[in-house]
Amino acid sequence: MEFIRGSKRTCYCGEITADHIGKEVVLMGWVHRRRDHGGLIFADLRDREGIVQVVFNPEADKPAYEKAKLIKPEYVILVKGNVRKRPEGTENREIKTGLYEIEVGELRILNEAKTPPFPVAQEKLEVDETTRLQYRYIDLRREKMRSNLFLRHRLTNVVREFLNSEGFIEVETPILTKSTPEGARDFLVPSRLNAGKFYALPQSPQLFKQLLMVSGFDRYYQIARCFRDEDLRADRQPEFTQIDIEMSFIEMEDLMEIMERLFVSIFKTFKGREPAKPFYRLSYDEAMKRFGNDKPDMRFGMELVELNDVFLRTGFNVFKQALERKGLIKGIKAEQDFSRKEIEELEQFVKQYQAKGLVWLKMKEGILSSQVDKFLSAEEKNSLKNLFGMKNGDTVFIAADASSKIVNDAMSNLRLYLGRRLNLIKDDEYKLLWVTDFPAYEYNDEEKRYESVHHPFTSPRDQDVDLLEKQPLRVKSKAYDLVLNGTEVGGGSIRIHNSELQSRVFKLLGISEQSARAKFGFLLDALQYGAPPHGGIAFGLDRLVMILTGSESIRDVIPFPKTQKGTCPLTDAPSDVDDRQLKELFIKKNIKA
Ligand code: AMO
Ligand code: AMP
Repeated sequence: MEFIRGSKRTCYCGEITADHIGKEVVLMGWVHRRRDHGGLIFADLRDREGIVQVVFNPEADKPAYEKAKLIKPEYVILVKGNVRKRPEGTENREIKTGLYEIEVGELRILNEAKTPPFPVAQEKLEVDETTRLQYRYIDLRREKMRSNLFLRHRLTNVVREFLNSEGFIEVETPILTKSTPEGARDFLVPSRLNAGKFYALPQSPQLFKQLLMVSGFDRYYQIARCFRDEDLRADRQPEFTQIDIEMSFIEMEDLMEIMERLFVSIFKTFKGREPAKPFYRLSYDEAMKRFGNDKPDMRFGMELVELNDVFLRTGFNVFKQALERKGLIKGIKAEQDFSRKEIEELEQFVKQYQAKGLVWLKMKEGILSSQVDKFLSAEEKNSLKNLFGMKNGDTVFIAADASSKIVNDAMSNLRLYLGRRLNLIKDDEYKLLWVTDFPAYEYNDEEKRYESVHHPFTSPRDQDVDLLEKQPLRVKSKAYDLVLNGTEVGGGSIRIHNSELQSRVFKLLGISEQSARAKFGFLLDALQYGAPPHGGIAFGLDRLVMILTGSESIRDVIPFPKTQKGTCPLTDAPSDVDDRQLKELFIKKNIKA
């Protein structure tokens, strides 16, 4: 092993440019690849800024050449040498520094490396994710991961710069705290100093940011870590990061306007173009009607069409029964002819979402045909033809069910699936959409009570306050989601700032005064000491980075994520603890997993 001993790095490997030609540089980094060409040894030297080729020539420096025979991938080395243009025909246009190379005059091996569990240099190689996570420090050397983390860093910079310039101040809020109401399960932390009591990790800084408004800070933000013990998916982690924001003395429109400018600055920086303002807007009801879900991908059309009216007097039993049971019939048109086999696949696809089947109608030579032809009247077929504007070669798919939810689920997913399959979705297009006017409350059939759709501090619309006790399901809220290419990237609301209204909402939700006091007494108190009108929003930072980097998995944009099972293969968390530790926390192990 050798030492740096007084040598100073002159620049990063990836920074070598024409300006360096003829100059001596000192570089330090990792051996990416090594190629022995008999008389010459070439190596790619890598650091965080990129790769540069270094050449060991026995004629230029015999000792360095001899030593270069020893180096292997991931060895840490120091090279001193002169920068020159690569000989014609040997340039590499794939890398930034591909026109230059370093003729090495001195090589020092600063550290050796075991053969890594997977090669860093083979970007395209599919490596088992558990292995990647176990050796995350090596995985993070790979170009894609490196650039994801750099983009994440630059994104938080852009966000901070924008919010700072708009007068927001960054404030930290506690991690060891009390349960917050985002509707997931809490992670609990036992308290050693208070026998039998627990902290909860925050599901979001929601209550604290509202308190900061009561304190008069007016504009708050935080790049905040949130913890939710829920089942994980490709875009969900048990700990994730929010760009968390709250403002006072504003209405919904004011907040949306600032957030649109935030997103314009994000897209300008990372995609070199601005989304048109104002962003698309849809009410929740309209989104459900036209797209079957509340986070539609607006990069393509293919809207769903409600067909209940077409089949009011139908002889087709499947549709008739759905209508009799107050269900829903919806159709979608694809400008494409499908084979029998493809249609079968589509039917299987919608069955994943509990749909019972899929009716198809094809238009050929002006004539509509279907697998259920004999049950459809000429009038029904005519209506469909007109409603969908069917042309030769088009296919319409229809699903019906007593449960509107099943139809919407199946058809919104079918829309996405067809959109991708028919190449209607452009990867480099970004469509931002606000969804507003969410229902404030829903009825939980199992627990026989009303629940907040967002959270209980979300304000009902002014015009709906009178419906609170009479028709709670008709109350819409001042909540809004921001949807980017079919992903919910943010959500927020104008809050209730009046303790009397807040009490009415708790009552509706069946939260007793006692239980409200026990859970959020501090907020209810605060609302009585001069709370300003306020509202806010939180964006999922990880999801944003996912979209901006085109990553399939949220784990690819988080340096040290958890697996789908909530474990960390690198540290082996969660893990067993000593009985002594448990005893200190007044915890007895008595439930076998
Ligand atoms: P909400 O629960 O909608 O709102 O969360 C805001 C945004 O955070 C992201 N997100 C997640 N990202 C990764 N993994 C998860 N498990 C996860 N859960 C949520 C989503 C979501 O849009 N306090 C309110 C905000 C407010 O009202 O101001 C809140 O947390 O992108
Ligand atoms: P069946 O009577 O179950 O054999 O169904 C006849 C055709 O109608 C099949 O091709 C099914 O795919 C379709 N079908 C059945 N149930 C539904 C439904 N709920 N919605 C749409 N199509 C259905």
